[in-house]
Amino acid sequence: MNAKSTEKAGTSASGHQKIDWAKINMPMLAKISDDFAQTKPFSELTIGVSLHIEKKTAVLLLVLQTGGAHIVATGNFGTTQDDVAAALNELGVVVYGRRDDSQSEHDANIAKVLSHEPNLLLDNGADLIQMVVRDSRFTTKGILGGTEETTSGDFRMREELAGDIPFPIIVINDSPLKLIVENKHGVGQSIVESFNRITNLMIQGKRIVIFGYGWCGRGIAKYFKALGGRVAVVEIDQITCLEAAVDGHQVMDSLEAAEWADVIVTATGRKGVIGPEHFELMNDGVILGNAGHFAWEIDTPVLLKDAKSVDGLEEGIEVCTMPSGKKIVLLCRGKMINLGGSEPKGNTLECMDMGFTLQALSQECVVKAGEELVPGPQAVPDRINIDTATRMLSHIR
Ligand SMILES: NC(=O)c1ccc[n+]([C@@H]2O[C@H](COP(=O)([O-])OP(=O)(O)OC[C@H]3O[C@@H](n4cnc5c(N)ncnc54)[C@H](O)[C@@H]3O)[C@@H](O)[C@H]2O)c1
Repeated sequence: MNAKSTEKAGTSASGHQKIDWAKINMPMLAKISDDFAQTKPFSELTIGVSLHIEKKTAVLLLVLQTGGAHIVATGNFGTTQDDVAAALNELGVVVYGRRDDSQSEHDANIAKVLSHEPNLLLDNGADLIQMVVRDSRFTTKGILGGTEETTSGDFRMREELAGDIPFPIIVINDSPLKLIVENKHGVGQSIVESFNRITNLMIQGKRIVIFGYGWCGRGIAKYFKALGGRVAVVEIDQITCLEAAVDGHQVMDSLEAAEWADVIVTATGRKGVIGPEHFELMNDGVILGNAGHFAWEIDTPVLLKDAKSVDGLEEGIEVCTMPSGKKIVLLCRGKMINLGGSEPKGNTLECMDMGFTLQALSQECVVKAGEELVPGPQAVPDRINIDTATRMLSHIR
């Protein structure tokens, strides 16, 4: 066990129980674990990880460990489940950080992972990739490549880091399987579940606005509507606006939506999509939540600064009273609500079993494929998508 990495972590007993429940419901990863136990594709290799630390990611890390990898990990900002981190440490996975780390502590944890000089990276949001490429304390020599899980990391690699990544990164988010099974259905279901879990409010009849009608937004809108919500969509892309309209949702511009909404959920992957001009127009009691990867879609710093008072009520709920007396309810400080509040569950076990099968097979592909891959971000190879779809269908037919 790594003493430093557990110094602030929660108790491990519930972490082990959560991991065990996930394991028995992730049959695709169980099969890969059996295969990796024989083939040991990661023998002698260190995998540096930055990923939400919770029970499903724990199962993935243990599968890679079974494949011979030494795993050094940290969570994504604000979502680490301390009990799962403590359990993983006991199982030989080095995990740094805890749920209430500040941004600077999170950055320090990313640096700690890189100080182990990993051969492979498994990133979610490109924090590791950004630091290893841009920070002169680290070198990219010795990195064979890696995987990136999400849309936001993909944006970062294709925009801020474009042309500068010298090793191959397979972008799991580019897989049509992930977009359909996880982003649409998994996130759609878990955001609605989390709204209920955190607020304990009914959905039926509520005016719910979704900012962003991409893969996640489509699912969030679909599941809120299925439970009786009156859903409107705000989009910057006209074709996607039309799609939302023919899917049966209202389409509004952002200011109109701010005035109309009882609940607003962001799912754009972009910074500051809701700001002071929207706060000004919102109804008394409006509830704001985010589904996007980074806690930047709602301009939370401005909201908190402009509020006359901020009262933390139940876990994940803050009521901001504005100078006018209007109350704006902020969920989870603008972090992803499906990994926030009390007892967060994230996306379903089955959809992440599929998503992490893509991850495990793609990590193996980086080691095996060598020169077939090119430097920088690239799609999951078709053969892995087809193989994974076939595996999942055999479980749900
Ligand atoms: N919570 C989770 O479990 C989870 C899971 C997967 C992805 N994500 C995150 O969710 C976010 C969205 O992912 P996605 O796969 O839906 O991306 P996407 O690219 O498919 O969709 C984003 C949509 O937002 C729209 N958009 C951009 N800026 C906008 C603005 N200012 N106003 C309105 N619409 C705007 C785009 O036109 C696009 O249609 C990303 O940050 C991603 O990392 C979260």
